[in-house]
Amino acid sequence: MNSATTPLRIVLLGATGTIGRATVAALVERGHTVVCFVRAPTDIAGATVRVVNVGDPASLARDGFAGERFDAVVSCMASRTAVAKDAWAIDHRAHLHVLDAARQAGADHFVLLSAICVQKPLLAFQQAKLAFEAALVESGLRYSIVRPTAFFKSLSGQVERVRKGRPFLIFGDGSLTACKPISDHDLADYIADCLSEPSRWNRILPIGGPGPAITPREQGEALFAMLGRQPKFKSVPVGLLDAIAGGLGLLGKVVPSLAAKAELARIGRYYATESMLVLDPVSGRYDPAATPATGSQTLFDFYQALVDGAAMPDRGDHAVF
Ligand SMILES: NC(=O)c1ccc[n+]([C@@H]2O[C@H](COP(=O)([O-])OP(=O)(O)OC[C@H]3O[C@@H](n4cnc5c(N)ncnc54)[C@H](OP(=O)(O)O)[C@@H]3O)[C@@H](O)[C@H]2O)c1
Repeated sequence: MNSATTPLRIVLLGATGTIGRATVAALVERGHTVVCFVRAPTDIAGATVRVVNVGDPASLARDGFAGERFDAVVSCMASRTAVAKDAWAIDHRAHLHVLDAARQAGADHFVLLSAICVQKPLLAFQQAKLAFEAALVESGLRYSIVRPTAFFKSLSGQVERVRKGRPFLIFGDGSLTACKPISDHDLADYIADCLSEPSRWNRILPIGGPGPAITPREQGEALFAMLGRQPKFKSVPVGLLDAIAGGLGLLGKVVPSLAAKAELARIGRYYATESMLVLDPVSGRYDPAATPATGSQTLFDFYQALVDGAAMPDRGDHAVF
């Protein structure tokens, strides 16, 4: 059924998020009929919008799938906070409801946007994502589980402060981690083509952007070069994040709202010390050469567009700075 030229009827989740927005455009461009399940009324160019409570199977059936036939589900949905309660509710439980409803609607393919960091799951949201990945693999539906590296928005938080003359913040010497950043557009193309590309069926697909892996120090150096300034770095000790997470963790046992802040500090610590690259299970090392790449847009092109004022940063989840 799936070929590059076959228009499909697709349910898209998370169409109002960073990657979801780019993915609607990629799916529409390929001639598919796209029905977006959203939680608040909005207009999405080229697509039909339905307001659905994805946490409620009755709403999914009545307001979402509405007794109609669909060929596939594409999900770019994820909790906006990544704290444990939200992650288990959205990244896991809501997706289970959608999987059930999708099967009933005749869908035979589920494309899931996940994250490369689930390969070393130390955080609650990673466990929630992995639990749904496992359910999807076991479901018998055709699956494509896309695990991208770092998004541009998560690596662009310091452009404004550097432009104002402040130093670029790094952990340690700025080379503790590396990633192969992927643009929203390139990732959306990759996700959309999972529907028609048999080599992406029933696979877990780590994916990065073009070019070599880059460290935070290299990101800063490129930015200073674009601005015609001498590089100026300020090193932040990783131990500081440990102290914040530890302190908030203790206080969180008494004040529940601080427990969520402790989890956010742990997330920050994770990204300060873990690379967004394929992890070699034997050596335990991150391996840039083993991390597949797609697309043509580079982070440094994006920095240049930000510096020129031609693009706006979409500050996102999990950015450490
Ligand atoms: N940032 C990175 O560098 C990075 C790297 C690799 C992988 N990832 C993964 O990529 C995924 C998506 O990223 P993104 O940046 O595109 O996400 P995003 O911009 O935060 O968008 C999340 C989407 O999920 C929807 N959503 C959240 N909670 C919902 C709920 N309760 N009911 C219905 N819809 C809900 C949002 O809808 P609303 O607009 O209504 O909130 C939005 O459409 C995440 O799983 C993340 O872990 C991120």
